[in-house]
Amino acid sequence: MTVLHQPDATIYEGKAKILFATSDPKVVIQEFKDDLTAFNAQKKGTFFGKGALNCQISATLFKYLALEGVPVHFRSLDSPRRMIIDRLDMVPLEVVVRNRVAGSLGKRLGIPEGSQLSFPLVEWYYKRDDLGDPMVNRDHIRVLKLASDAVLDQIRTLTLQVNDLLVPYFRERGIVLVDMKLEFGWKADGTLTLGDEIDGDTSRLWDVVTGEKFDKDRFRLDLGSVKDGYEKIYERVVGHAVES
Ligand code: TMP
Repeated sequence: MTVLHQPDATIYEGKAKILFATSDPKVVIQEFKDDLTAFNAQKKGTFFGKGALNCQISATLFKYLALEGVPVHFRSLDSPRRMIIDRLDMVPLEVVVRNRVAGSLGKRLGIPEGSQLSFPLVEWYYKRDDLGDPMVNRDHIRVLKLASDAVLDQIRTLTLQVNDLLVPYFRERGIVLVDMKLEFGWKADGTLTLGDEIDGDTSRLWDVVTGEKFDKDRFRLDLGSVKDGYEKIYERVVGHAVES
């Protein structure tokens, strides 16, 4: 039986999550914090319950993706804000897939926010906080030896598969999946696996009818109650009201 984490078993602490070791080297606990950051942590915030909302939103999405055959790190929920996951050796890339224009894409290319893209656009970012996670292309990735071309092809295929599954999944729940950021890693058995989280911190989610933003842009752009937005995502994805 896997013995769950001890208080001193921290493997890694990031801006929004902590990883704890367990007695099984292949299994890790991923705890979601109540903290929020934006603009490479230049802006900081927190609200009680944010970790639990994101953990359960992510768990629901990972379960759905696993059922559809996507390799995911998620195993089970341990508590409202902790999940038991497979330990992954992460590829140091953030993979962004976009269906509509928002955020940095609109600024970079001068396209109006909300414009529909004619196909899902994939972008690569080098996961390096000290450099501000710069956007990179395949040549940069090759020079830095972050992943081989074959692995990038595999990651791109998985990313588009996840997007193809989640666009209709969200739409059926009255949400437009504008864009999202995914991270991948290697499981001990060598399987390339979807890791990290998928929730309002790592995606843009708009109401289908009104265009209201439910995701972290509320925090980034000071648009109103972040908690309210995250609760709306929870209610539509998890399928019931948040228990108070
Ligand atoms: P961007 O438009 O700011 O480049 O963001 C694209 C998507 O990636 C959006 O859904 C937010 C997400 N994202 C992260 O998850 N982490 C980050 O550090 C950044 C900059 C964006």
